[in-house]
Amino acid sequence: MKVLVVTCSPNESGLTAACGEAARQGVVDGRSPARVVDLSSYTIERCAVCADGWGPCRTKHECSVEDDFGELQGMFGEAEAFVWVTPVYFGEPSETFKAFFDRLRRCEATKSGGIASVLAEKPTICVAAAGGSGNGAVLCLAAMERLAKHLGAATVDFIPVTQRTREYQLETIHDALVALCTETGKPARKQELPISARKARRSPHGRSDRRGHRKSGPRQDGE
Ligand SMILES: Cc1cc2nc3c(=O)[nH]c(=O)nc-3n(C[C@H](O)[C@H](O)[C@H](O)COP(=O)(O)O)c2cc1C
Repeated sequence: MKVLVVTCSPNESGLTAACGEAARQGVVDGRSPARVVDLSSYTIERCAVCADGWGPCRTKHECSVEDDFGELQGMFGEAEAFVWVTPVYFGEPSETFKAFFDRLRRCEATKSGGIASVLAEKPTICVAAAGGSGNGAVLCLAAMERLAKHLGAATVDFIPVTQRTREYQLETIHDALVALCTETGKPARKQELPISARKARRSPHGRSDRRGHRKSGPRQDGE
């Protein structure tokens, strides 16, 4: 399962990036290819709100604003599953996250009549990286859930992370991706897991230690 991990923070060594890396490592440990995309490193203007409110997003499902949006939209089409990680700003996803996903929603949520959203029914895990207080992390995840529903994505999990919960939540993110990639998106009912997956869960090998560092395995993206 090709997984696209989407992050969007200006801090290369911040919590958002750490969550993205935990997700990437989980995909690799689940024997799947991972691609990490940091929206902050792309030029993404806000929606131009064309004409009376709609532009070519409504009919052609493409955006009139010429920047990096089209390239990113193509990446979403190629992926089979997603992890969205955003910093929590004022109890919401970041401005960068919103600028991109506002436009993606216009282009993809308007598809119908046999044309499906590029996210349709694709498993999606939402992660909110918050500060010390964690205030608004759940609200942020709720906003991400609404967006995922508009886009037709199949939400699998919602994970709030704060500085206080960082250590074990990074492990949660990692394990969520291993489960997603090895169970092909089925609901995680323990008794239905293949024997190999059950052994992997019990085994300390390949899992994070309590500081979020990998105990074994090279850092490859699986591609
Ligand atoms: C403009 C701004 C608003 C923020 N609002 C919140 C907030 O509402 N709740 C919270 O828990 N943290 C808030 N924070 C803290 C960030 O969520 C936190 O520092 C997070 O780790 C940022 O991700 P990063 O480490 O990838 O930069 C805010 C930070 C900024 C810069």
